[in-house]
Amino acid sequence: MKTHLENLNWRYATKRFDENKKISAEDLSALKEAVRLSASSYGLQPYQVLVIEDEKTKEKLRAAAFNQPQLTEASQVFVFASYTEVKEEYIQDYMKNVAETRGMDLSELDQFAEMIKGASMSLPKDQQAVWTAKQTYIALGFLLNAAATLKIDTCPMEGFNAEEFDEILGLKEKGLTTAVIATAGYRSEEDITQNYKKVRKSNEDLFINI
Ligand SMILES: Cc1cc2nc3c(=O)[nH]c(=O)nc-3n(C[C@H](O)[C@H](O)[C@H](O)COP(=O)(O)O)c2cc1C
Repeated sequence: MKTHLENLNWRYATKRFDENKKISAEDLSALKEAVRLSASSYGLQPYQVLVIEDEKTKEKLRAAAFNQPQLTEASQVFVFASYTEVKEEYIQDYMKNVAETRGMDLSELDQFAEMIKGASMSLPKDQQAVWTAKQTYIALGFLLNAAATLKIDTCPMEGFNAEEFDEILGLKEKGLTTAVIATAGYRSEEDITQNYKKVRKSNEDLFINI
């Protein structure tokens, strides 16, 4: 645990990355596995994650993210794209996956499927989109944690124009929209913000013990 907390103190929202340092294939696949293993409501994972290293695409994304340098300087950009609505087919695909993975008959999952449908598809469309977007933030947290363990720097980001991201990445036609992103790579020595002290609420202000 001590190491874990040390890693969490080591990490910070990196402003400037060293563009010459790239994440190895092995580490990248570990980061992706951590994201894949994220918890999500019912296990539905109502999102897809784009992992972008193409320089031209990164340049376009930077322009759509208030010109924040992380977009082009980082080794990879993770784009967490959530479903714009919950469709029955997504739930059916998930049920098939559960049945195959656990050697069950699909019919055994009918109740579970109905429960998910009842809770999600009955929401107004805009609330469905809020619910799917919330799930991506958990995956984002898994990524930040795993990256810190591997001493890989990240910057979680909401400072972008989602419509422009969706356009650049062709997400709309896939029923997806950009919820949140994270850049990943290695901090530049010149990033002065790495020396900033962490600012957090005190235990007293954060926790309410009952
Ligand atoms: C959802 C989210 C969105 C953020 N958006 C941006 C962003 O667009 N640009 C940026 O430089 N930092 C962004 N940050 C970084 C936060 O400012 C940073 O995490 C916070 O100040 C705490 O500092 P630390 O992460 O360095 O400990 C974002 C963080 C989160 C969690």
